[in-house]
Amino acid sequence: MSQERIDKLLASTGRWSRKEVRELIRQGRVLADGVLAKRPESKYDPSSVSIQVDGAAVECAAFVYLMLNKPSGLLSATEDKRQATVLDLLPEHLQRRGLFPVGRLDKDTTGLLLLTDDGALGHRLLAPRSHVDKVYFARVAGPLDAEDVAAFRKGMTLEDGLRCLPAELEPLEDGRSCRVTLREGKYHQVKRMLAARGKPVLELKRLSIGPLELDETLQPGQWRALRTEELAGLKRVQAGV
Ligand code: URA
Repeated sequence: MSQERIDKLLASTGRWSRKEVRELIRQGRVLADGVLAKRPESKYDPSSVSIQVDGAAVECAAFVYLMLNKPSGLLSATEDKRQATVLDLLPEHLQRRGLFPVGRLDKDTTGLLLLTDDGALGHRLLAPRSHVDKVYFARVAGPLDAEDVAAFRKGMTLEDGLRCLPAELEPLEDGRSCRVTLREGKYHQVKRMLAARGKPVLELKRLSIGPLELDETLQPGQWRALRTEELAGLKRVQAGV
């Protein structure tokens, strides 16, 4: 594999900008293969180098994987001429990387959004045949009952003929909110399924995508790089194991 500059490798994790990496190196906080890294332009093989920052190992993947707690009011698009998108929440060096959201959320939906530039992983997670579970919290107008649960379990055909695969609806204690698990991701699907039951959605939040769960310590609008074990979970889905 071709060699990459250490500042680029560390910045590609999404945890630091190149400027911050240069500062870390200047402060003597970065080791490459056990040796103090002294120059941001020093090159290493990303497939074999072992990098530590402040004594902790850092995975320098070729791709960036971020978890965002999407706030209401932003589009989950990569660009829009008039409206703000989730990419506006990221620092400039990450905005330029070509990240895209894996599975869009509506403007008023909040919660887990995975942003990456790893097209193969993203497409695999979204592919209908992958059947990756997406779990949502929904608050609805009107009490949920056993018939709603059964209708979701059976699979619904919406008014416009859209056929939805069997899904899980688990009413929560208050009877007016629930967890919904879908194995597909059609346009406005949760809202449309609940509206078809006469229970319009008042609030919707995505909690997980396959093994990846929203880090509830992230406030709306906050993001962080995926942890090694979180990425490993998604890679297992990608590999079909
Ligand atoms: N289903 C919806 O209706 N909206 C979303 O944002 C996600 C799933």
